[in-house]
Amino acid sequence: MLSPDWADVRLFLHVMAAAVWVGGQLTLAGLVPGLRGISADAPRAVARAFAIRLAWPAFVLLLGTGVWNMVAVHAGSKDQAWKVTLWVKLGVVAVSGVSAYAHSRARSRAPLAVWGALTGLSAMLALFLGVMLAD
Ligand code: HEM
Repeated sequence: MLSPDWADVRLFLHVMAAAVWVGGQLTLAGLVPGLRGISADAPRAVARAFAIRLAWPAFVLLLGTGVWNMVAVHAGSKDQAWKVTLWVKLGVVAVSGVSAYAHSRARSRAPLAVWGALTGLSAMLALFLGVMLAD
């Protein structure tokens, strides 16, 4: 059997946090209609618990392990295409974080839907760009 090393730990933590940030948002979106059937307040209460206990801690872990990735793979010595992909990814990560915050502050239906869709889509795009970086 292969022996685990620090690169495995680093990528495990990064991918685990990405799974929570991206997968949690998708799961929550799928549960909202059912939660609305339980009570009008249920979607907000569940979303708040998810945001505070899981999503934001995962986002902080993504930022921390992301910097760890950059140091470990010597980002400065990569070719131009890789660096541009990393910068695009960082922009997309910023959009995902800011739109998640705006979504959590929104009160009416349209801003909730727009910010919610934007954070989910940008989170998935960051995931895809991350996989490209690891090629
Ligand atoms: C929403 C936030 C993020 C998501 C969803 C995400 C997702 C991913 C995924 C899925 C991988 C591929 C791992 C693999 O296939 O082994 C990856 C790799 C990578 N990520 Fe992220 N990431 C995020 C944030 C960040 C941030 C903030 C940084 C930098 C500060 C970063 C830097 C990197 C680097 C450099 C790699 C390549 C690692 C390697 O080749 O060993 N990521 N990311």
